[in-house]
Amino acid sequence: MEMFRLVRQWLLPLKSMTSKSNCAAVDLDKCYAQMNQLVDKAAKLMKEASTKMRLYDTKGNNTADLVTATDREVEQLLIKGLKEHFPNHVYIGEEGTGGAATGRKLTDAPTWIIDPIDGTTNFVHGLHYTCISVGFWLNKQPELAICCNPMIGQKFTARRNCGAYMNGVQIEASGQTDLEKSIILNELNSANFEPELMAIQMGNSQKMLEKAHALRTTGSAAMDLCLVAMGAADGYYEFYPHCWDTAAGVLLVREAGGVVIDPAGGEFDVMGRRVLAAATPQLGEQMVKLLGDMQIYHARDDEPAPTN
Ligand code: IPD
Repeated sequence: MEMFRLVRQWLLPLKSMTSKSNCAAVDLDKCYAQMNQLVDKAAKLMKEASTKMRLYDTKGNNTADLVTATDREVEQLLIKGLKEHFPNHVYIGEEGTGGAATGRKLTDAPTWIIDPIDGTTNFVHGLHYTCISVGFWLNKQPELAICCNPMIGQKFTARRNCGAYMNGVQIEASGQTDLEKSIILNELNSANFEPELMAIQMGNSQKMLEKAHALRTTGSAAMDLCLVAMGAADGYYEFYPHCWDTAAGVLLVREAGGVVIDPAGGEFDVMGRRVLAAATPQLGEQMVKLLGDMQIYHARDDEPAPTN
């Protein structure tokens, strides 16, 4: 027995050294397994809560930016559960359960970016287009993603270089290259419509409408990205989404063969509050060209939140 204890004592430090030299000590399989389990638990909680009357608060003095007790409960469940296994990872959650939601820089550290309920306004109104969104980033790139809409039974998953899936079945972006044959998504969310920028927002909508088959708005940025990933919509652009709205969906789109860029062209920046997703680079280019200089640049997520 004593011999066994001594051998174990000698082997344990060796084991941790080995895991440290592997993948900078991040066990992606374990991360993926834990996030799956926790999202399934959170999805049950969200679905049950959706059958009850949904009371809500508003954030700051923005009367159209809603939050419910369920947003907070789901975020707590996810972050507490993940922290038990990964205490040294970084946590960014919309409701601030893992530290300040904004004003934090994205680093190379393993980082969980979580929206407990994306599409809270839909959730409050009983419109079942809403989801839990969890993205795991490492070295400033998305590695793992889950968007789960328990209301309509859709769970989207992706791992970098392993494809994108809905309920375990592989999905692909539509492959559409022509804006004139596309469905484009954009969000008409009062919380984001600053009166002085209304002309730009509406001007862009008009330009898209004049070209595309249709312009749609779902009420959930994360679900918009899922729709592009599954080929049900061809493109999506928005100027205001936060990092927690897009952190998971961008990987889903890319793994489904689509592209995610900045609405003015160039690289997508998850902290930049600007996103454009398209089924193909050709469609992305046409969307960028159409938006032209009708662009909106908002305070970034890695800057201190504006005081209003
Ligand atoms: C919002 C939704 C909405 C989008 C906003 C998001 P929330 O997220 O995704 O569709 O227009 O930019 O902030 O507040 O419901 O989690």
